[in-house]
This record gives sequence, structure tokens and C-alpha cells, in this order.
Amino acid sequence: MNLSLENIINQKLVAVFKALELDEKFAFVKVSDRPDLSDFQCNGALALAKSERKNPREIATRIVSELEKDGDFANISIDGPGFINLSLKDSLIAANMDRISEDERFGVSCINAPKTVVMDFGGPNVAKALHVGHLRSAVIGESIRRIEKFVGNKVISDVHFGDWGTPMGMILAEVILQDGSLEKIETYNIADISSFYKKANARCKEDETAKENARVITAELQNGNAEYRKAWQHLRKVSVDAVKENYDALEAHFDLWLGESDAHETCAEIVKIAEQKGVSEVDDGAIIVRLEETNKPKPPVILVKSDGGFAYQVTDIATIKMRADDLKADEIIYVVDKRQSLHFEQVFEVADKLGLAPDAKFKHVGFGTVNGADGKPFKTRDGGVMNLEDLINMSKDKVRESMPAPDEQYDTNYIENLVSEIAIGAIKFQDLKNNTASGYVFELDDFAKFEGKTGPYIQYAIARINSIVRKASENGINSGTITISNREERDLALKLAQLNAVIMRAHAEKEPSILSDYAYTLAQTFSTFYNASSIMNAEDTILAASRLKLAKLVRDILRLLLYLLGIKSPEVMLKK
Ligand code: ARG
Repeated sequence: MNLSLENIINQKLVAVFKALELDEKFAFVKVSDRPDLSDFQCNGALALAKSERKNPREIATRIVSELEKDGDFANISIDGPGFINLSLKDSLIAANMDRISEDERFGVSCINAPKTVVMDFGGPNVAKALHVGHLRSAVIGESIRRIEKFVGNKVISDVHFGDWGTPMGMILAEVILQDGSLEKIETYNIADISSFYKKANARCKEDETAKENARVITAELQNGNAEYRKAWQHLRKVSVDAVKENYDALEAHFDLWLGESDAHETCAEIVKIAEQKGVSEVDDGAIIVRLEETNKPKPPVILVKSDGGFAYQVTDIATIKMRADDLKADEIIYVVDKRQSLHFEQVFEVADKLGLAPDAKFKHVGFGTVNGADGKPFKTRDGGVMNLEDLINMSKDKVRESMPAPDEQYDTNYIENLVSEIAIGAIKFQDLKNNTASGYVFELDDFAKFEGKTGPYIQYAIARINSIVRKASENGINSGTITISNREERDLALKLAQLNAVIMRAHAEKEPSILSDYAYTLAQTFSTFYNASSIMNAEDTILAASRLKLAKLVRDILRLLLYLLGIKSPEVMLKK
């Protein structure tokens, strides 16, 4: 149930608007732009006046005189042309905090009509170790997955493995070239296969015959050549096992491990549907679909290449059909590099033209690149692409530097586990604190610090409250009914009261950085509160009990926020 203060005030406003026979659509507040003047503001009188061509101040005055009958407001005023400023009585805020702390969802509502949301993220490829370019898809995707689930949607995540294109033929061709056959392929591990792929890549760039050969093998593999299929199964399995380890480390969860290859049969169906609907044409031996070019030039989509093979785009189109038919998707969300925006525009347009998923919504959440200090995609010192495992190890090394030596209470295992939770948290938070669409510079020096806008800072804030709670209990302080006795308590409570709106906005915009921002400011607001309002030395036991309850609420909400960002909250944080 939505227990937020905003919702409580909105309901009061709805009642007033009803009584005054005003359009209820405008009966809502938002957090005040001027916290020095009021807690909330309602701009409804202005909007109403505009739509009904009336005087906004006059409407505002009527609303206000009705609202003044309500005992929960400390102050109501009209500002400028007709903004209504509302401040709440402390008693209402305190009672609201009590209710929220007793609710297991902290008063956050679930959406009215839950949907089946298919999430496509990860997008790893056979034979390629995950690198820093795969980081954002996994990290942002996992956070959106958790947010969507939390608001009540049914979420099905699919990794959409890149296991069907020309690279498959290239690897097989390279193995055949070096070994004379595919007999030994099943003895190769991920490192061997990656190295075959690298060599194949270099060879195909220089040698047209090698490229042609790889193309032919890819086509035969796709058409069902048994020997190639068997060898390919091995490539796929080894690659899936390797990336599973990476995703486990990042705690990215996939319900389905399907790949482009699983869409193969459906690709043929797509070609037929396109033909029947008369939207495809043959062009230079390929079967293509031309797209609307009213706003900008848009290249046609190739359904079948001139050699008869299926390319990347048609596998995505076919996958839409499968997700609509088999998974009953109401919405499909792709978390993929924004450089693939045109690809998705094309794919969505063809899916619409063919009527593949008429009731489903498609959304591409495009993210920017992770850059180095030079503003170019992040590289290792020697100029190579940074693989994900190295990045994680680097972050762990950094965090380990600030850890104390193991002792009786915290042994090596404990510390290593903590190092890992902090290091992964640091990497993820650095990624999620940035607006998804913009790229960011990977901060090698500051991202794992305990101060500033970092993951460890939030983890530290949680651990600090844990320690406060322990100390309070040692001192015989129990948490009790919340009362507001000073400015800092009030500010903290109002900040906590924003939770529902913040989560709903992150959900609506598919933007985890809304949560990371909020977590950061909440942790800061808590700090200010705690500096001003001692728990251990509170003026009386009632205040101590109230503050302790507020502190616990902050901790639990910070934990929830980190969970929604995909980050662990260690019980204690150790420091040298
Ligand atoms: N494997 C692709 C790549 O590395 C990304 C896949 C993204 N998802 C999708 N449905 N196309 O570029």
C-alpha cells in the first residue's frame, strides 16, 4: 500500500477538489521546490485555471480555505500566481514514519496492473571473455530487473547469447586449419577458444579466402551440418560456463540462457510472414524490408543475406515473436549499448510491420561507454580491452589496501568476503551513479573510497547504523514511537518520506541512478541528523527511543536501495 506522505496529502486534496467540484486530475502535490517555504506544493490551481480559463489565485483561495479545515497542516499559503504551499504538522510526519517502519515494503506501493516484462541484458558472445564493455549491461540490467520485480511485475531475464553469427564459422575454420579437423575441439577450454577466435579474426581481416571459408562454414552450421553443430555445442557450453562465473561475481541473474541460435527456426518463419504480408523484397540476392524514412534515413533490414544466412537483426526480430508467443511478454526491455540504437529502431519497426507482438511494448535502454581518463573507451595500461575479471581483481586489490590484518574475530575468509562485497559494490555504484545514457570516466583512484559518492560510502553508512544499534542495545535503549523534536529529525523524516516517489520514478524511467542519488543524499541527511541528535546522550528516553527507530528505518531503507542497485550491505565495515 502506498503509505507515502505525498499520497496522504493527495487524498486530502482529492476530497477537497471533489467538494469544490474541481477536476480531480489536478489534485496532487510534489515535494516543494522551496523547502525553506514549505514541505509540499500543489500547482493544481494553475493547471486548472489554464484549462478552465479562470483566475488561478481565486481557485487557489477556494482550495486553501477548504484545506484549512484539516488539522494535519501546520501552514498553508498561496504563493505567486497560485502555487499552494503546504507544510505538515510534525505529528503527522512522525505518525507516518511509524507506519512506514512497520510496513515490510516501507510504504512503497505495487503498480496497479502488473505485467510480464522480459528483460534482455548481458548479451555476451561465444569465445569472448566478458570485458568492461559488458559491465554496464549486466549492472544496469540487473538493477532494472530488481526494480521491476519490486514494483510487482513478473520479470523474465534472458541473457541472449551471441552464439550464431559469422564468428562461429570463423572459430571452426581456424580450428580446422590448425588441427586438420574438429576432432580435438572438445578438449579446448575458454582460453584456447578465445585464442582461436583472435587468430581467426586477424586472419579474416587480411585474407578474403579465409573470410569466405568462414562464411561458408557458418552457413552450413546454421543449415544443420551435424559435425559443425556438435563442435559448436562445445564452443557454446564452454563460453556459457565462463560467463556464468562472471555474472555470478556481479550477481546478475538470468532466468533464461537462450541465444541467437534458439531463434533459428523462427527466423525462417519471419521470412515467410514478411513475404505473405508483402513487406519484404529481394535486393541483390538478399531478402530485405525497407523502412519509413520520413524523419531520417534508415537502412533497410536484411532478413536473409545473399548467401542464405540469417544475420543479427533477424534473430532479434524472431526473438520478439518467441517472447510474445511463448513468454507472453507485455513489455520487452533491452539494456544494450546506445550505439545499437538504430539496430533496435529497425528491429522494433519490422516487428510492428509484421504484427509479431501487437500488444507488447518495446524499450531500448541505451547506455553510454565506460571511458578512460582520455575520454575514450576504457583500456588497460598496454592499450588492450580491460576484461571484467581483471577489473574486479583490480578493485579488490584497492579495497584490500584499506583492510586491517585478520584477527580472531575477523579471519581471512571473512575479510576476503568483505573485500569482494565492497569491491563489487564500488564498481557497480560507480556505474549506477551516472545517468544511464551518458558515458562515464572510470575513476581509478576514488571509486572505492569510503567518502564521497561511492558504493562503500553507503555501505559504510549502513554498517555505522548497525553499530549504533548494537551500542544502543548494550546501553539498554529500545526503539519506540517516533516523535519529531528538531529540524534535523524533521528533515530526515521528510527525506525518508520520498522513498515511494523515488522508486516509482526509477521504475517509470528505467533509471537506477535515481536510486543511487537518493541513497547518497539519504546517507548524508542521516549524518547531519546523527551529528545533531544524539541517541546515547538524548535528552530523555522517549527521544532516544524515537531516534533509534528512525536510525533503523534509515538503515533498512538504505539496504533496500542497495539491494535494488544489486549491491550487498555488509553487516560491518572494517578499516585499517
Ligand atoms: N551480443 C551482442 C553484442 O555483443 C549484444 C546483444 C544485445 N541484445 C540483443 N537482443 N541484441 O553486440
